[in-house]
Amino acid sequence: MSASAAARTLFTEAFGSRPAGIWSAPGRVNLIGEHTDYNDGFVLPFALPQRTHAAAGARGDGRIRVISTFDGAPVEVALDELDDLFPAHGTADRPTVPAWSAYPLGVAWALLHAAGPDAASGLDLAIASDVPIGAGLSSSAAIECAVAIALNDTWDLGLDRVALAAAARTAENDAVGAPTGIMDQMASLLGQPGAAVLLDCRSLEGTVVDLRLAEAGLALVVLDTGVTHAHATGGYRERRAACERGAQVLRVRALRDLTVADLPRAARQLDAETYRRVRHVVTENQRVLDTVRSLRTGGAGSIGELLLESHASMRDDFEISVPEVDTAVEAAMTAGAVGARMTGGGFGGAVIALVPSGRVDDVQDAAATAFAASGFAPPTTLRAEPSAGAGRDA
Ligand code: GLA
Repeated sequence: MSASAAARTLFTEAFGSRPAGIWSAPGRVNLIGEHTDYNDGFVLPFALPQRTHAAAGARGDGRIRVISTFDGAPVEVALDELDDLFPAHGTADRPTVPAWSAYPLGVAWALLHAAGPDAASGLDLAIASDVPIGAGLSSSAAIECAVAIALNDTWDLGLDRVALAAAARTAENDAVGAPTGIMDQMASLLGQPGAAVLLDCRSLEGTVVDLRLAEAGLALVVLDTGVTHAHATGGYRERRAACERGAQVLRVRALRDLTVADLPRAARQLDAETYRRVRHVVTENQRVLDTVRSLRTGGAGSIGELLLESHASMRDDFEISVPEVDTAVEAAMTAGAVGARMTGGGFGGAVIALVPSGRVDDVQDAAATAFAASGFAPPTTLRAEPSAGAGRDA
């Protein structure tokens, strides 16, 4: 059964009525620009075909009921209890809800703060997803954005996509408790078929950049290593803190305000480790802009070197790669990829490879062989066709 049909069926079975509509939002892959979003910098993600679907219907009694295929049991709360569940700066004795439900309930909470407490009457919501979980493909942003767009229509909030992305990110940061930037939510809401979106994470301006993959005879392939490291959240937090420290010492608002010409000064003023973290962010911002320029002038075939440089910078300067990820990048290159790099937050997750269309099977086989030779569990591969962002389906 498709995720859309699953959401509709779950709604009808759980709530005994038909949903008013079905909305969906995709997972994402980042083509380039890693750990730049929370430094006010640039990213270039695109939306995946895999989506999370939300079936929704308004209620008149000020209550919200939510159910998902992740967990058969519905969760029910009153809208005016949401502030107790997710106080902006959490308290130790707050009531708790099942972990998965913090995503949809957190979005409802953030939207009510954005639109005003009288904006909503109540809600029934059923969620189903085919975005792989834990692969660094933003299954969480897909849930948040599917719910955000469903609630915006159901409650007639009239918020634009950037405001919905901001609310979805607030849910991730303050309800779920993950200290991420805004890339994943913006990608899920702004994605366009066949294109990536250049995001300026300071102004929140998005520019659609056509990838013209077919014209270049290329395909994008995701190699999911299946590795999720327990310290991923801690490592992310530490990297973020190092960037903030660097910006403070160098007296800029954010690392976005530095260019490669500032690096010699940074090397003099920072300790060696903080300098490496800063150098990654500064050079990565430049690589995003260079990638966009290369895509426009030379086409997708001309960005391979930039993808490889990005990977080396994450591995050596930001130190967020792991052996499985490096093995996947090397195997893809040996099998004829034009470029490859880790994508997402790091410490495991997936690699994105840009591959001649006729070599996709070779890359897949080479990764499987290299993983087996190193004693790693086999990676999973998916064809990453840049797809449409969030919308109403029915
Ligand atoms: C995760 C976060 C994003 C971004 C990336 C790294 O995916 O959710 O906000 O910081 O890591 O680029």
